Amino acid sequence: MKALILAGGEGTRLLPLTLTTPKPLLPIANKPHLSHILDVLSRHMIDEAVLLTGFGAENFDGFSPPSGMSLGFAREPEPLGTAGPVKMVEDSLEDTFLVFNGDVLSGVDLSAMIAQHRSSGAVATLYLTPVPDATAFGLVPLDASGRVERFVEKPSPEEAVGGGLINAGTYVLEPSVLKRMPAGRRWSFERELFPTLLDEGQPVFGYTDDGYWIDIGTPERYLQAHWDVMEGRVPGVAVTPARGLRMSAQAIGPRVSAGNQCSVAAGARITSSVLLSGVLVAQEARIERSIIGNDVEIEVGAVLTDCIVGDRVRVGAGNQLRGARVAPGLTIPAGGVT
Ligand code: GDD
Ligand code: MG
Repeated sequence: MKALILAGGEGTRLLPLTLTTPKPLLPIANKPHLSHILDVLSRHMIDEAVLLTGFGAENFDGFSPPSGMSLGFAREPEPLGTAGPVKMVEDSLEDTFLVFNGDVLSGVDLSAMIAQHRSSGAVATLYLTPVPDATAFGLVPLDASGRVERFVEKPSPEEAVGGGLINAGTYVLEPSVLKRMPAGRRWSFERELFPTLLDEGQPVFGYTDDGYWIDIGTPERYLQAHWDVMEGRVPGVAVTPARGLRMSAQAIGPRVSAGNQCSVAAGARITSSVLLSGVLVAQEARIERSIIGNDVEIEVGAVLTDCIVGDRVRVGAGNQLRGARVAPGLTIPAGGVT
């Protein structure tokens, strides 16, 4: 069975990191998120995946899949939304196939989901997970038989009241669902394709799984995914040890993930933060609840709180940044306050 992975969104909620690294390539506990998705596929004997790229497609050059897995690429000429890129590869889809949002970390039991898809006779089976607040997601109420009643993308607080089952971003689909879709234009599973199938009375079912699930697409959730892996809450996912780390133990507070070749001086203090690779932190610097991009330098005494710092930034000595998003390559001279 073929799995298509949506990987062409702009990742706006994780800017400026996503200017240089598309969301699926951002590391979770020192391993590209995409590798975690491919691991889930491997565990369920799915060995053929196609990455549907667009924005930032060139960054995937050189990415290698786990051994035994074939990974293809299809690049859209312009942003085609979530369903448009799937329509683009329709000719290669002869049989039941899978679609993954490229920013979801979960341990979904794909084998059980596929088995349910087959036994229910659905044309589409949607992995659903319960959340207390559905406003950032697609709310998917089911009837008593597990059939999808409605699909409400980004419900208002009134519609979302009390939480409920949301679209967890993995589908098992029959190629027939793509038939009536227009080719070569932007099209959305959530706002167009699923509501159309439901209007037509086609069998669309939910597969509910309340195991671990997170969408890594906001700063808070990107950090949370790290804590969840580090604290053992994500089945089948462990921290990949970083190479070439130089860090004084006292400098590292709780909930810190640091990638390859990071260096943190004694007398610095980091808590609840993720450092990508090659980050240099000088003495007396403080970093709290922040995500620091590749090859960033934080100089003596700089203080960063709730920041997202793009690749190759240099934060000069003594700066205090709070809630800042710093563009890649920027140098902030010593001494400023933002
Ligand atoms: N190729 C391509 N082209 N991919 C795209 C495009 C596009 O134009 N737009 C978005 N994507 C990809 C993103 O890269 C991501 O992997 C996936 O489609 C979903 O897009 P997001 O922007 O992350 O959507 P969301 O998180 O707001 O909502 C979606 O995911 C929720 C679960 O995490 C929806 O599917 C919701 O219904 C769902 O609840
Ligand atoms: Mg998302």
